[in-house]
Parts: sequence; structure tokens; C-alpha cells
Amino acid sequence: MSRVGIIGGTALADLAGVAATAPPTVAETRYGPTSGPLVSGCYAGRDVAFLMRHGTGHRIAPHAINYRANIAALAAAGCDRVIAVAAVGGIAAEATPGRIVIPDQIIDYSWARKHTFYDDPCADGLDHIDFTEPYDSALRRQLSDSAAELGLGALERGVHGITQGPRLETAAEIDRMDRDGCHVVGMTGMPEAALAREAGLAYACCAVVVNKAAGRTGGLAIHAEIEATLAAAMGDIERLLQVVMPAL
Ligand code: HPA
Repeated sequence: MSRVGIIGGTALADLAGVAATAPPTVAETRYGPTSGPLVSGCYAGRDVAFLMRHGTGHRIAPHAINYRANIAALAAAGCDRVIAVAAVGGIAAEATPGRIVIPDQIIDYSWARKHTFYDDPCADGLDHIDFTEPYDSALRRQLSDSAAELGLGALERGVHGITQGPRLETAAEIDRMDRDGCHVVGMTGMPEAALAREAGLAYACCAVVVNKAAGRTGGLAIHAEIEATLAAAMGDIERLLQVVMPAL
């Protein structure tokens, strides 16, 4: 049976409960090393490969992540689908802290990232991937169904805006993203999603709102809010992963 790749981020620092079947290794790819060790193992009855996007100890900033190495390593490890966990800020009123969002669309505001596997002249030809629907609909449905089964009150769609970071946005930038139709804002959703599509991996994002976006906070200290929400949200994400795994 195929493997499921799980990419953890700020909202999923590690994957407790993975029974490792091989020693974790930082995979070397033709694009360089992965962010951190690839943990191969069994999780909720499924064969998984788990990778921390920001590396061990959360060292790598969003713009400096080697997204190509991470996706290439998951593909080389035999994964055919990837669940990406990401912390996001809430722009839409309903994207409240603690809420899980399964986005269905992307607007990419990031820049100067190595965003494609088609950089070198391609022996097999250049493919302009279809990205009309950036996330895999079947995987999104499985996540939504599992979230509903758990009564998590997840938002089953939403536009995920991706900014460059590592700084947070200005209030005017968030107002513009709101006008553009973004519901949540994060820093790592791209080029990860597009690279997964280029690599032929089904990819969906499980985003968790950890703060209200800039200018939407009513003056609260954003970092204190993030810390408090993260701790609670991590439990929900792990429960969701446990339930979705057998359904994949
Ligand atoms: N902006 C961008 N990325 C984020 C935020 C935010 O407010 N919160 C968590 N990731």
C-alpha cells in the first residue's frame, strides 16, 4: 500500500505516536537536503513519512525552506499523497483562532522562492501543470469528513493567501488580501502545493488558525495569542490525523 506524507509546521511540531520503522534520516536530494529528518513509520495503521518543514527546533524561516527537497524526498520515499499542516492567521470573520480550515484555493504573494522542478532544461519536456484546483479534492473531502466526524467545526473551504514572511503583515496588506478574497494567511503554503502537483502527489492542507491577522486583533499581543492557541490546536490536529489515516 502507498505511503502518506505528512508535513508538519508550526502547528504540528512533531508527530507523537509514530512507530518508527527506520532511523530518521535527513534525505539528500538533487535539490539539497530536506528541512530535517524524514521519519518513516506507522501512524494510526498507515505507513507514513513525516517531515518537519521548519527543521528540528523550528530553525528554518518560511522563505528559506527547501520546498523542492522536501517534496522530492517524500516522493522518493514512496508517498503518493501529502497532508500538509500549517499555522495561519485568520482574515475572514469566521476564521477564528483554534479553528481548522481545509482550504480549496490559493493566492500566492510569495516571491523569489525556488518554486518549480522545471528549472533546468527538461529531458522529458516541460509540463505546465494544471493548478485550477490547487488541492486534491478527494484528500480534502477525507479531511473534511474526518473533521466532521470529530465535531471539530472545521471550515471546509477557504482561500489561503501565502505571504513571504518571516515578518507578519501590515494591516493594509491584510485589508488588500481580504479584498482579494483570502480567508486565511500563512507563509508556507507555496510553493509547496505547486511542487507537490508537479511531482504528481495528491496534496491537501490542514490549516489551523492560530491568531487573527494583523489589524484584525483589536490590539491583542499577537505572539501571546499564537502560543496559547497553538497548544490547544495541536491536539485537534493530531486527533484529525488519527481519524483520517484509516480512511486514506
Ligand atoms: N500571517 C502569516 N502567517 C501566519 C500568521 C499570520 O498572521 N499566523 C500564522 N502564520
